[in-house]
Amino acid sequence: MPRVEDVLRQWGGEFALTAYDEPSGAYMFIAIHSTRLGPGAGGTRMKTYATPADGLLDAMRLAEAMTLKMAVAGLPMGGGKSVLAVPGELDPDTRRNLLLRHAHNVHMLGGNYRTGPDMNTNSADMDTLCEVTPWAFGRSVDNGGSGSSAPDTAVGVFHGIVASVGHAYGSEDLAGKRVLVQGVGAVGEPLVEMLVKAGAHVIVSDVTLDRVESLYDRLGVEVVAPASVLDTECDVYAPCATGGVIGPEDIPRLRCRIVAGAANNPLSQRSDGELLREAGILYAPDFVINGGGAIHLIGYEALGWSQQEVERGLVGIGTTLSRIYADADAAGISTEEAAERLAAARLAEGRRGPAPA
Ligand SMILES: NC(=O)c1ccc[n+]([C@@H]2O[C@H](COP(=O)([O-])OP(=O)(O)OC[C@H]3O[C@@H](n4cnc5c(N)ncnc54)[C@H](O)[C@@H]3O)[C@@H](O)[C@H]2O)c1
Repeated sequence: MPRVEDVLRQWGGEFALTAYDEPSGAYMFIAIHSTRLGPGAGGTRMKTYATPADGLLDAMRLAEAMTLKMAVAGLPMGGGKSVLAVPGELDPDTRRNLLLRHAHNVHMLGGNYRTGPDMNTNSADMDTLCEVTPWAFGRSVDNGGSGSSAPDTAVGVFHGIVASVGHAYGSEDLAGKRVLVQGVGAVGEPLVEMLVKAGAHVIVSDVTLDRVESLYDRLGVEVVAPASVLDTECDVYAPCATGGVIGPEDIPRLRCRIVAGAANNPLSQRSDGELLREAGILYAPDFVINGGGAIHLIGYEALGWSQQEVERGLVGIGTTLSRIYADADAAGISTEEAAERLAAARLAEGRRGPAPA
């Protein structure tokens, strides 16, 4: 069980705000890992944890991952994350009041931290935060937001898959390639549509049967049971459901050439990136390939980008991955490590892009 003092001591980040919200019984955490490239940015996660220290640890790890994501995407933002560690499901009034007090904490940071939707928070919640503070991305369209970032996350993943296929097979043509999409939700579904259009043989899996059935009816995709995903032969395995789907014990079972999907932390531990390399499986690091949502929210809402500029940013995910693959090959290291080195180089340069509004 982690202890708060150890969590704080071992973290390399800049700042953590911790508070207890008596009316809801929630612990509130805001972790800013780095502001070297710009204000710390990252979503607000609402979740129940075994202990408050687990919530703080999650906020810190996620904030660190955001630093990497922003740096490799070339966005003028740093890494941050909020966690509202709730004791269980809250009634609507208690939940709203907790969000308003969280908004007050965000506002106190004066724009050095910007938040957005994450697990168990959505655009309507960002509208609530904006009653108190302007520092929330992802408001509803009616309230001046840029709409769901999931379709653009899918576009970024699609470009990442194309680049990965190009590196592994010497041609970026997806025609006939077997691509297994695990989880066909807000990101997985539009990804499936793009893959089908590009001529791939798409296989889908989801624990929610309605979702796979509708894709089967509409697009004629192949369906596999959730328990069979890791054993299914394919060219590309695209995890787009939850994290931690590939542990060290699973790697010998994998029957794919590439792992490239939207899920955050698909590997149960970082060292699995090296195991994938040893197994001859090309891995697209999550914080590179799933950066499309951040490009969408920050591009439209902080940088005032046009649709064309956002699209250019999404295409850039493929270009960045190709560079990371080449770097990894040249240095004989995992793609995860090569991506971390790229992020570290950008952080060391400390180069900021145009200042966010
Ligand atoms: N939405 C974004 O913009 C965005 C950005 C970056 C990363 N991500 C990550 O991408 C992943 C998908 O995000 P989303 O917004 O599509 O979520 P979502 O909740 O809309 O969809 C997830 C889907 O996965 C299914 N699922 C859950 N467990 C499963 C399992 N064991 N096997 C098969 N299917 C399973 C769910 O039924 C659901 O259909 C998440 O890991 C998320 O953190 C999303």
